[in-house]
Amino acid sequence: MCGIFAYLNYLTPKSRLEVLDLLVTGLKRLEYRGYDSTGVAIDSPDSKNIVMVKRTGKVKVLEDAILEHFSGGEYSEPVMTHIGIAHTRWATHGVPCERNSHPHRSDEGNGFVVVHNGIITNYNDVKTFLAKRGYEFESDTDTEVFAKLVHHLWKTHPTYSFRELVEQAILQVEGAFAIAVKSKHFPGECVASRRSSPLLVGIKTKTRLATDHIPILYGKDDKKLTSDQVLPRSDSTSEFMPLEEKEVEYFFASDASAVIEHTNRVIYLEDDDVAAVRDGTLSIHRLKKSLDDPHAREITTLKMEIQQIMKGNYDYFMQKEIFEQPDSVVNTMRGRVRFDGNAIVLGGIKDYIPEIKRCRRLMLIGCGTSYHSAVATRQLLEELTELPVMVELASDFLDRNTPIFRDDVCFFISQSGETADTLMALRYCKQRGALIVGITNTVGSSICRESHCGVHINAGPEIGVASTKAYTSQFISLVMFALVMSEDRLSLQQRRLEILQALSNLADQIREVLKLDSKVQELAKDLYQHKSLLIMGRGYNFATCLEGALKVKELTYMHSEGIMAGELKHGPLALVDGSMPVLMIVLRDPVYVKCMNALQQVTSRKGCPVIICEEGDEETKAFSSRHLEIPRTVDCLQGILTVIPMQLLSYHIAVLRGCDVDCPRNLAKSVTVE
Ligand code: AGP
Repeated sequence: MCGIFAYLNYLTPKSRLEVLDLLVTGLKRLEYRGYDSTGVAIDSPDSKNIVMVKRTGKVKVLEDAILEHFSGGEYSEPVMTHIGIAHTRWATHGVPCERNSHPHRSDEGNGFVVVHNGIITNYNDVKTFLAKRGYEFESDTDTEVFAKLVHHLWKTHPTYSFRELVEQAILQVEGAFAIAVKSKHFPGECVASRRSSPLLVGIKTKTRLATDHIPILYGKDDKKLTSDQVLPRSDSTSEFMPLEEKEVEYFFASDASAVIEHTNRVIYLEDDDVAAVRDGTLSIHRLKKSLDDPHAREITTLKMEIQQIMKGNYDYFMQKEIFEQPDSVVNTMRGRVRFDGNAIVLGGIKDYIPEIKRCRRLMLIGCGTSYHSAVATRQLLEELTELPVMVELASDFLDRNTPIFRDDVCFFISQSGETADTLMALRYCKQRGALIVGITNTVGSSICRESHCGVHINAGPEIGVASTKAYTSQFISLVMFALVMSEDRLSLQQRRLEILQALSNLADQIREVLKLDSKVQELAKDLYQHKSLLIMGRGYNFATCLEGALKVKELTYMHSEGIMAGELKHGPLALVDGSMPVLMIVLRDPVYVKCMNALQQVTSRKGCPVIICEEGDEETKAFSSRHLEIPRTVDCLQGILTVIPMQLLSYHIAVLRGCDVDCPRNLAKSVTVE
């Protein structure tokens, strides 16, 4: 939900053109977060003003506009110190257009310019306050009030530092935000902050830093703005010792993929941190001290590699990520599953296993694809843990004020680790005393940090908006958890061995399934002009139906429904005729006979389904001329093999329909608004 990127070079000569190039590259890495419109702000050649360029559409449109706009030689002159800010937007308030694009400005003179990710929920109140003081608004966004509020504070409190102005503005706003602010009144300075939306600072220095910690500075005030009140100045304690380096570059970004090509040294900011750079010095300030505040923010070394966020020889990130699955599933199991000793250790939760075993119930909570991974593994979790397992959509869970107890164990599943609904549900359960387990792909994400314990799925960066490899890795993480929980159950040992054996073959079997690619492409040619696609299955494969239908919807804009085959006769069968495209998953597992009944119900209504079945299953294949055969595996892992043809199918249909595979319309990868 919007990507923000800012770059500050201190005593590191860079031309404005180089800065623009860095900003545009940063935005390209963050484009998955939103791609309705984009914008940048840099200093004018005389450094007295701020120049902004904004465009509707994707970063490429902005890049072309920049090439056109900044061709003059004056932009090639190196500057020792400079700050540029940039934004790629997923519209929440106001349609995508240049007027609503970020950066937003405080006044016609561009005194303060702001990029923002999140939603300021009380923006109407702040707007009314400012309008009474003569401010006129030029966009429909919530963000603009922030720029104008900082300006108002600057006018009424001329002695305040830049950081203090931003801090005071933050105290007045409610909702979620990650912001970066630039000002022509404070050249070479940048102030950034976050609350519920992610933000990190990348640090690049020539020599290794003397410390891996940035001490935290505390303020004391937390006062709200009332009509004509003069805002109090926030006092600070003196325990502050900033990081001081001579030549230094700072990168503020919504996520690590935007900074990894420059530096692997980052600080993940916490909610209500205010990070400010002045004279090349970074300080981190908190508005008020709380008991569990640490004394410092640690500099983390990223383990990510630049190749992981590049497309390589693939046409799209999604395609690359589908084909990475033989490796990503192995990475999820690496160092955790010992196939020789049939043992599994999940380091992130092992100390909590006794407590989890004593719990009243397990709750699996997530959104979209992450929710489907919970649906996919619920049956196995029930079988191997012998506990009640509830699977919940995070948004619905919050709407219901669901009762949560101290002896509940709540799993929060999220690729990004930043999904607002999931994070809100996590906080809700945490407040009620439940044990919080995070299952995420993003180290340092909010869900990671706010969980008591958890499992990193280690699928590697997922850039395509449609989730693929994260799903199979979430699936495996939950299977591993089920295996850990059943370690000492004698009666379950045979079942565990069977699953472990299947896990050891999984990467090769995924490679086999990926060989279906050209066959799936042919199938896509038959289907891509249709309006609808029904996907049916049951048991362990119902989740594949839901996930397959979600992939088709989000990538191809075709209508698609995942149908529980047992429900067919209760309504959906009315949709079936000779022209309705139907795909059915019919595997040799305990629900095979029931699936065959459903298949016959479809064929006897002139339906001609495409069947996903097991290799060499001639009896099932006889029911249709079109089928995709997958290798045989244990029932509870079938969903990993059956979802891959669905990922490929949605990908090929999207390409044939001319859709933007990596950036489907109206969507964004990381949904940081409720
Ligand atoms: C999947 O293809 C989607 N783009 C979407 O449903 C996604 O899974 C959902 O928004 C949850 O995201 P998360 O895993 O990052 O929490």
